[in-house]
Amino acid sequence: MKTQFQAKIEEITASAIPMHMPGHKRNTALLGDDLPYSVDLTEIDGADDLHDPEEGGIIGSLCERFASLYGARSAHPLVNGSTCGILAGIRTLTKPNDSVIVARNCHKSVWHAIEICRLNPTCILPPITPEHGICGAITAEAVEDAFVLSGGATCVILTSPTYEGVISDIDAIAEVCKKYNAALFVDAAHGAHLGFSKHFPDFPRGADIAVTSLHKTLPALTQTALGLVFNDKYSSAYARNLGIFETSSPSYILMNSIAKCADILSDCREMFDNYRAMLDDFYASTKPQMLSLIKTDDIGKISISTRNTTFTGSSIADALRNRFRIEPEMVHSDYLLCMTSICDTSENLFALSRAIMELDGEAECSEGRTYPSFITELPPVEIPLTDAVWLDLPDGGEVSNAYVWVYPPGVPLLLPGERVTEEIKNHLEMLKNSGISPKIIKTS
Ligand SMILES: Cc1ncc(COP(=O)(O)O)c(C=O)c1O
Repeated sequence: MKTQFQAKIEEITASAIPMHMPGHKRNTALLGDDLPYSVDLTEIDGADDLHDPEEGGIIGSLCERFASLYGARSAHPLVNGSTCGILAGIRTLTKPNDSVIVARNCHKSVWHAIEICRLNPTCILPPITPEHGICGAITAEAVEDAFVLSGGATCVILTSPTYEGVISDIDAIAEVCKKYNAALFVDAAHGAHLGFSKHFPDFPRGADIAVTSLHKTLPALTQTALGLVFNDKYSSAYARNLGIFETSSPSYILMNSIAKCADILSDCREMFDNYRAMLDDFYASTKPQMLSLIKTDDIGKISISTRNTTFTGSSIADALRNRFRIEPEMVHSDYLLCMTSICDTSENLFALSRAIMELDGEAECSEGRTYPSFITELPPVEIPLTDAVWLDLPDGGEVSNAYVWVYPPGVPLLLPGERVTEEIKNHLEMLKNSGISPKIIKTS
């Protein structure tokens, strides 16, 4: 069904000769109609302006709808992914040279924000869960300890939920932030579906600013996301910073997809009930003996652990791909992640269940084959990140001249300026041996 947003676009485009961008001029007679030329527009009269939305305009109304859907003071539809919302959010909440507290398992976009905003991070290392070796939640106590270490941090930055669906107690952490008069930024890129039904936890509304990727867990086109401001005092600064980091030519195709997503969320109870029922059936019929399912706060994230078996994350991903035509979202050394959503079908989940059970029957015990998915000790910082990225540090030296991550998830194992510890060397070796190639992004 068409959105009101699309109806308005069609109304505008029907009545005007396009003497404006985009250059395709909606000429489907010439170009064919295999791409959505007819609703691809620019900010002409009546089409509103993403960077200065009008009250009652098509984008202004969309902002209001999302603020109300997520219980935020203001909402910003984003067309450059969560990435631009994260860069803008961290710049909004900090000043150059500020000390900030950062969960070390944050996405590269957070580290890029720290680099370009010239911040001094005090890192919190998330605990590694003993059973499956994934990053656990950041506790309020860990944040409190970091405040003591940091000496006057002005902002706390963390990811909740994580890729795998681990949720930190944001309300408790927000209390600690208040005590130290610091702001709280939450990267909730993987949590756009939270807070809409009793089957899933709440969205992290305790943040001052949070960002979420609609395209990751909801029906919305790639690159669509939301910046959500929960503390009004940051609203105008956040809008200004989005103007710095987000394109000045926002796609109406993407914004229309965001509008469609708002329509879906406005009446989504039955979809979430059906989704829950499908997941319940999946879990009831998927009880592997050798492989195991990693349980987190989000039952929609299905992570399969290959620990203590002859499979690795990569080998089971290959089997899913080649034998069952199932493409997983993320592969790690000893687990992989399949993402589900309200748009999945019971047939798809049944196929995944059958594949897991068949592979489980083939898995053999390999006691002791366990790898942590992340570092367990913070590498010493030899040169601050913001300085290290400008230095011509040698390759293969004791101090890193690169960001090193596996993508996905794009969480740096090593940052520029950190000591290349034995743990890091072993971890990188282990990744290579388990068929995973870390990406090395040199900064000098
Ligand atoms: C935790 C996390 N934050 C932020 C991002 C960036 O999101 P986007 O791709 O929407 O820019 C990602 C992308 O994978 C992510 O995993």
